[in-house]
This record gives sequence, C-alpha cells and structure tokens, in this order.
Amino acid sequence: MHQAAITGHGVFTPSEIITNDELVVAFNAYADRWNAEHADDIAAGRAEAKEHSSSEFIFAASGIEQRYVLDKTGLLDPGVMHPWLRERADEEPGQMAEMALEACTAALAMADVDASEVDAVLCAASNHERAYPAIAVEIQRLLGTGGFGFDMNVACSSATFGIQAATDMIRSGSIRRALVVNPEICSAHLEWRDRDCHFIFGDVATAVLIERADLAKGPHFLIRSTRCATQFSDNIRNNNGFLRRTRKGHMEDRRDMQFMQNGRKVFKEVLPLVSKHIAGHMAEDGVKAADLKRLWLHQANKTMNDYIGKKVLGRDPEPGEQPNILQDYANTSSAGSIIAFSKYSEDMAPGDLGLICSFGAGYSVGSVIVERMS
Ligand code: COA
Repeated sequence: MHQAAITGHGVFTPSEIITNDELVVAFNAYADRWNAEHADDIAAGRAEAKEHSSSEFIFAASGIEQRYVLDKTGLLDPGVMHPWLRERADEEPGQMAEMALEACTAALAMADVDASEVDAVLCAASNHERAYPAIAVEIQRLLGTGGFGFDMNVACSSATFGIQAATDMIRSGSIRRALVVNPEICSAHLEWRDRDCHFIFGDVATAVLIERADLAKGPHFLIRSTRCATQFSDNIRNNNGFLRRTRKGHMEDRRDMQFMQNGRKVFKEVLPLVSKHIAGHMAEDGVKAADLKRLWLHQANKTMNDYIGKKVLGRDPEPGEQPNILQDYANTSSAGSIIAFSKYSEDMAPGDLGLICSFGAGYSVGSVIVERMS
C-alpha cells in the first residue's frame, strides 16, 4: 500500500462581489415589485405578500458579509434575479472547466508537477452544467493531463468524497497523481427570490493535487486517513433534472427546481451527525483533540462551525485554530472547507495535524485527517 499526500492546492475567486447591503436592496425592490403586481391576490388572501430581507438578519443568522459571483448584473436586477452567463459554443471551454483551470494550475505549480504527469481528474461538485461529456474530461483536455477523468456529486461533501476516492486509488497503486477539482457555480442554482435563503451561496473553484507521498517534491500534507458517511434526508434538495420535461408542469418556473432547504432542521440534524462522525474518525485514527492544530470546516454557517469546533476540541477554538472564510465567500458548497485549507495551512509546522470536514445535502459528511510534512 502506498501513502497519499496533498502536495498542491489552488483557489479561483470570481472578481465580482455582492455585499449583504447590495443584495438586500435588490431583493427588497424585487419583493415590492412582486407585491404590487399581485396586490389583488394579496388583498383577497390568495397570495402572501413578500417580506423584506435585512442585512442585520443575514449577518446574525449566518456570519456572511459578502459573496463572490460570476455575474452580479442579473442577480441585482429585480426583474431578473439570476446570473447572466454567456452561452458558449460547443468548441469553447465550458463555464465550469474554465474556472477549474485557474485552481488546477495553481495546485500543479505549488507541487511543481506538470499536467502530463497527472493520471486522473475528478470534477467533484454539487451541480454540473451538463450531463455529458463529463466536465472532468474537458478539464483533462484543457490542462493536458493523462489517464482519465470523471464527474462526481455528493453535494457539499463532494470535495472530501473526491479526496477519499483519489486517495484510495493512489493507495492501491492504480494511479500516482490526481487532481480533485470543485468548480461551484452556486449562484445558478440558488433561488435569489426567496428571502429565507437568498443570501446563502457564492461562486468559486478549488483544486487539490493528491500524489503518492514518496513523489512529493516539497512540503506537503500526508493524508493519514479519510472517512465518508451518508444518511438520506429531504431537508436540502433540488428537484431539477433530466426527467423534468417528462412531467406535466415541470417546465414552468417552479420553486423546487432551485436549491431548497429546511434550514432549522438541517441545523438540528446535521450538527450531531457531524460531531459524532468526526469523533469516530479521530478515534479510529488514534488522534486526540489536543493533537489537532487546525480544523478546516465546511463553510455554511458561523454558529454551526462554532458548535462543531467546540464539540471536537472540547473547548472554544482559539483564533486561527478553526479559520472561517464564509464571511467573505458565503457558502460555496463543496469548495468551502478547501478554501479554508488553502488559505490557512501553509504556516503549519512539520508534524502538525489538521482535519478537513465537509457536510451537507444527502445528508453527507466527509473528513480527512492530514499531517504536515517537511
Ligand atoms: N431577512 C429577514 N428576516 C428573515 C430572512 C431574511 N433574509 N430570512 C428569514 N427571516 C425570518 C424568518 O421568516 C423567521 O421569522 P419568524 O421567526 O417570524 O418565522 C426568522 O427570520 C428566523 O428564520 P429562520 O429560517 O428560522 O432563521 P435561522 O436562524 O434558522 O437562519 C439559516 C437561517 C439558513 C441561516 C440557518 O437555518 C442555517 O444556516 N441552516 C443550516 C444551513 C446549512 O448548513 N445548509 C446546508 C446548505 S449546503
């Protein structure tokens, strides 16, 4: 059995930012317009008036201050309320492949690895822009990697599940190197017209290069162990899919064709699931709370992360022990814990241990215990 290591990582961050205040102005204008258009139905009790959103609520409930998006013009236009993304010809790079490239290139450069030395590309994300050909195969062609590529989707846990899949392939000897890449265009599957969730998501792409540990050329993170688990739940769901046109009424503008969640239930059910999962993983690996120098958690909600950090460490995390990036990026689905890892890991000393953990729809939870090596 070989050992696997994360030898490179990278983040592509879109250039457009939407602050909570900008978002709320657009949402409130949309709500006012909708209420005016439906005034008769509202007065007759056939429809409920849309209430205003508020920046104070968003920050207090989530910890989010802003989000990066691929296009803010459509999102901030009360008559549109979705991103406008240019349609591309089949010969052009797709949207996801294009944003994946910058993250992958950064990961390869950090590890001093040429794309041709990579044996596999796993495009692990919570939504893919088309059914086929796989986005991973397109990324393979654009980068010039060898071997094979495939897409996978475990919603917000896609990155850690992808890391486990790549790690297992390296351990068994079937590949030497894999890029696990997470291009997340969450702005295109979020319902920006629903005040309960319109503030939740942002866009980003992350990538990690996983290599056979003995091939690492510089400082790296040895992957000591991985653990993945799923348990079916309907509390986070998106019903859009290829069967849509086979069902009457499904081609209409339906709420369930975008991201839906029962946020309170998710909160209550996912927290114990994740805390138990991490405790079990640490016990299996013989890692004690005092051994962990850093937690890179899924970035959905600050209160959730505070709770999990406290459960795992048995005390309030010190500043820097559990870095959050959600205040700047919002929830970026599978990419969140990898952004935190990418931005807050290079200062770690040889021998330091850390844990990456993602969780979300499915329900799904994935964790990776890494050790810094010189
Ligand atoms: N502005 C102002 N008020 C709002 C609002 C907004 N944008 N959105 C909701 N409210 C109101 C609600 O209507 C509700 O009012 P009520 O008490 O009169 O009924 C109140 O604020 C509380 O709403 P609630 O949805 O219960 O808030 P919350 O504290 O649960 O926070 C989330 C909402 C989504 C931030 C939180 O539930 C969460 O983060 N859940 C887990 C999310 C998660 O991890 N999802 C995974 C996705 S990958």
